[in-house]
Amino acid sequence: MYICLEGIDGSGKSTQILLLEKWLKEYGCDVKMVFEPTDSPVGKLIRGMLRDPGATGDNFQKALALLFAADRMILMNEIAVAEEPSNVVISDRSFYSSIVYQNEPQWLYEINKHVKRPDIVILLDTDVKTALKRCDCKDSFENKSFLENIRNKYLKLAGEWDFYVINANNGINKVQEDIKKVISPKIGRCI
Ligand code: TYD
Repeated sequence: MYICLEGIDGSGKSTQILLLEKWLKEYGCDVKMVFEPTDSPVGKLIRGMLRDPGATGDNFQKALALLFAADRMILMNEIAVAEEPSNVVISDRSFYSSIVYQNEPQWLYEINKHVKRPDIVILLDTDVKTALKRCDCKDSFENKSFLENIRNKYLKLAGEWDFYVINANNGINKVQEDIKKVISPKIGRCI
């Protein structure tokens, strides 16, 4: 099973993913953790571009979208183990991040058409104020409106693709309980 957690920066994905890994292992599943961008050479190139203040504008955005798609395509080799009934792959982000963070959805669907879609997508939905407090993002007006826009795109996508939306403004334990409620009925086959 291929499970993915999505959410804006500061939504608490990393914390929740680690707790989920621990719980699934206790439950008897073989768990593999992956993340996007990956730590492959392509993923490293992406992180470099994300940090580069000069790498803005439409051409850079398009190049980034292509790199994300390439990085993800390579990652598919690792995700293949999710086909085994006792294996769970938990991913920090997926193809859906590209849909909300990059532009031109139709083109993004096209360049990602060979990428496997997650079996379960959990969207950790946080209001931007809470998210900004959690991440080390700048609390600037641009950042606020950027994250508002990403959050709205996520919520729209969640309706189109049947994501499980969890209120991630709640405390860590409550959010983890809500995630378990989603996953529990689906993982009977691990045991
Ligand atoms: P993130 O998971 O936030 O990494 P970290 O844990 O190192 O902070 O991802 C890094 C950024 O990459 C994040 O702002 C979202 C962005 N991103 C895209 O723009 N498109 C994509 O397809 C993916 C996977 C991530």
